[in-house]
Amino acid sequence: MNGNEHILEVKDLNVSYHTYAGEVKAVRGVSFYLNKGEALAIVGESGCGKSVTAKAIMGLIKGPQGELKAGSEIWYNGKNILKYNKSQWKEYKGGECSIIFQDALASLNPTMRVGKQIMENLMAHKQMNKQEAAREAVEMLRRVGIPEPEKRVQQYPHEFSGGMRQRVMIAIAFACNPNLLICDEPTTALDVTIQGQILDIIKDLQEKRRVSVIMITHDLGVVANIAQRIAVMYSGRIVESGSAKDIFYTPKHPYTWALIQSVPRLDLENKQTLMSIPGTPPDLLDPPVGCPFCTRCSYCMPICREAMPENTDFGEGHQAACWLHHAMAPEINMPDLRGVRSQF
Ligand SMILES: Nc1ncnc2c1ncn2[C@@H]1O[C@H](COP(=O)(O)OP(=O)(O)O)[C@@H](O)[C@H]1O
Ligand code: SF4
Ligand SMILES: [Mg+2]
Repeated sequence: MNGNEHILEVKDLNVSYHTYAGEVKAVRGVSFYLNKGEALAIVGESGCGKSVTAKAIMGLIKGPQGELKAGSEIWYNGKNILKYNKSQWKEYKGGECSIIFQDALASLNPTMRVGKQIMENLMAHKQMNKQEAAREAVEMLRRVGIPEPEKRVQQYPHEFSGGMRQRVMIAIAFACNPNLLICDEPTTALDVTIQGQILDIIKDLQEKRRVSVIMITHDLGVVANIAQRIAVMYSGRIVESGSAKDIFYTPKHPYTWALIQSVPRLDLENKQTLMSIPGTPPDLLDPPVGCPFCTRCSYCMPICREAMPENTDFGEGHQAACWLHHAMAPEINMPDLRGVRSQF
């Protein structure tokens, strides 16, 4: 802790899915906190457990397949939400916490005009009457940069482009004035220019309203301008976390090094030189007993296959779980990331 107030604290989160093939251990011992008004990015390759973590925070892990393991704790403003009763959940999901998904088309109601979808939220959670909600819906569309909002509120989701639809999602998410906003790959389906615009809108609203944000993405490049802190996830675990500066300038985990090297380089003419991380993540039906990155890590030592590395603390909230930082580990040369970092 650094004197900031935690709006959210996740402790030892474990989530499994029970499938025909066996138990998929999707999230394994994830712990992190979010300060009030801060943006935290959760970054990692597809399948590492980002969305499952988001779903757990939104109370969306459902049986019989999904199981939140005993001992998992999610504290929101000093209360463990996993102990909420029905009415507390309703209040939390309606008025405290909003989520923006990657696929706006799947999240919006295709048969309802977008204005009405915003209004429903406002009327249900902000005690507005119809006229007030209608006015506010137009205002929200204007605030997220949708031209001619008076006309657009009358249209249906399919009449909007991908980028415009994502703006509608943002308007809906912000309509209830949430204190906590989770963005799960909000720009992944969009082209690069639109991505930037959408991130700017989220950042602007976040700063103006002091909303606490969890920004989930597989692309480290996306978070450089928005997140104060970053948690790097691999195979259901957080392998490194720290300030954005720590992660970009003094990363300590070989997976973070590989992620940084795999960010598309704006300064390279030949995009083919982009490094992708060789190999695939481990099978979550039967994760390795040791470090989950051992099958792909070029620094792997015998100990890495035998035991899970503990977190090493580098001060000021910077931690990484890697045997290279054990007192007995050999000295290694870190890859030179200077050229790669220059774009951040
Ligand atoms: N409903 C489900 N049933 C079975 N496995 C699931 C389910 N949802 C997620 N998983 C598994 O959990 C792991 C983490 O998924 P997810 O959190 O969606 O990854 P991502 O980091 O890409 O968001 C993946 O291996 C995925 O296959
Ligand atoms: S613990 Fe070993 S295998 Fe895992 S990242 Fe560190 S060096 Fe690589
Ligand atoms: Mg996901």
